[in-house]
Amino acid sequence: MLRRRDFLASAAAAAVLPAFGERLAAQTAPAPATGMPAIPPGFVWGASTSSYQIEGAVKEGGRLPSIWDGFSHTPGRIADGTNGDIACDHYNRYAADVDMMAQAGFQAYRFSVAWPRVIPGGTGAVNAAGLDFYDRLVDKLLSRNILPMACLYHWDLPQALQDRGGWHNRDIASWFTDYAMATVAKLGDRVKPWAMLNEPSVHAIFGHGFGNHAPGLTGWDSYVSAQHHQNLAQGTAITALRSARSDLKLGTVFSLQPIFPSSEQPEDIAAARRFDACWNTINLDPLFHGRYPAAFEQTFAPLVQGNDMAAIRVPVDFLGVNYYGPSWIKNDPAAFLAQAGYGAVPDGTPRTLLGWPISAPGLTEVLLRLRDEYGNPITFVTENGACYEDPAPAAGVVQDPERTAYIREHLGACATAISQGCALNGYFVWSLLDNFEWAEGKRRRFGVVHVDFETLERTPKASLQFLSQMMRAR
Ligand code: FCB
Repeated sequence: MLRRRDFLASAAAAAVLPAFGERLAAQTAPAPATGMPAIPPGFVWGASTSSYQIEGAVKEGGRLPSIWDGFSHTPGRIADGTNGDIACDHYNRYAADVDMMAQAGFQAYRFSVAWPRVIPGGTGAVNAAGLDFYDRLVDKLLSRNILPMACLYHWDLPQALQDRGGWHNRDIASWFTDYAMATVAKLGDRVKPWAMLNEPSVHAIFGHGFGNHAPGLTGWDSYVSAQHHQNLAQGTAITALRSARSDLKLGTVFSLQPIFPSSEQPEDIAAARRFDACWNTINLDPLFHGRYPAAFEQTFAPLVQGNDMAAIRVPVDFLGVNYYGPSWIKNDPAAFLAQAGYGAVPDGTPRTLLGWPISAPGLTEVLLRLRDEYGNPITFVTENGACYEDPAPAAGVVQDPERTAYIREHLGACATAISQGCALNGYFVWSLLDNFEWAEGKRRRFGVVHVDFETLERTPKASLQFLSQMMRAR
């Protein structure tokens, strides 16, 4: 029975987990077929999703609202007026989705656990029915030899906790730790890699600074507070989980990107440095060096109490890197984020449908930075992908040549980073499914599998076929 067995002893784990903690040897074999990145053996191939974006079933199994439920139902918040009430209905269709993943050849799956399913009130009673969903999902993954990697927080905070101050309340470090412990108590016999948070700086910037994501809060002080308390919760939970079980692989997930000044003007160069601190090093420096970036140490000082920085600086078994593209930044006195705002992107820079600049070498650059400035931690690209205007399914497939090219180029960037000694151990495409893309709603698609949001039918895209070819070649 899968339920009771230790996944580390299973064949699927044996195939995937050796990659943890290893430097993969640079590819020395002859280059593969034309256009195929030279990815070394041992590399883990996965797909990534998040709970609110795909599960739907927001009232099933005892779940209570998250901050995204209220936010997405507020008129004007979501570009196309949609919400995650049904999303991809993955809650009810997970088994078929896992079969589809297995068929494509994925070895690993990064999903997130919804706090409002597990502890619907945020603190207090654990909801067995909520945990049971993830129990079924994990068993299904293991039965198809897919390694589960669970992320504990992908932005769907229980509304009940927002009502108590959410990420502005320092008690959230213990609320989050209790939730993490309850979840791992149920699933930790079978799920070994655990990511604490998804992109804390992005959650702080968009959800608590710009206010275009839930919970819709704005301003610099709000950003700073949400940022510090996420760092603190992350470290506190890792320490507790480590003492509860010694066989877990504990990490977290950051969004990292190169930041360039939008001109050679000294004030734009300085703004780009500040933005880099607010987006990248605000997470990296505390975790790996136990301090905030020098420019913001004074800013954070009033929030930092006692041993906070020691609690945040904890060893991690892996770092998840979400990468989409670089940003160009200008000095902007009106910008809430350290007077640094988005500036002109160089002419000719390719972009996705969302306007996000594309640069595969930027991914290599991010991984080299981790190698050089942060002790070369074991990393996985836990999200990478692109949004394009896809045509309708035809003859059982959706042709998405631009997304396929994007993924191919970024896999090439992974291969380059590995050849330069980066401890990169795998790649999880964002995303398995077209889904509820936050403030963009359902009109913006990132999936390698197309979802018809009327019928909920799934159709593979050519990008999935490309990935499948890469994965099957191993
Ligand atoms: C990342 C988020 C993910 C998805 C992609 C496109 O920042 O982690 O949920 O929205 O962007």
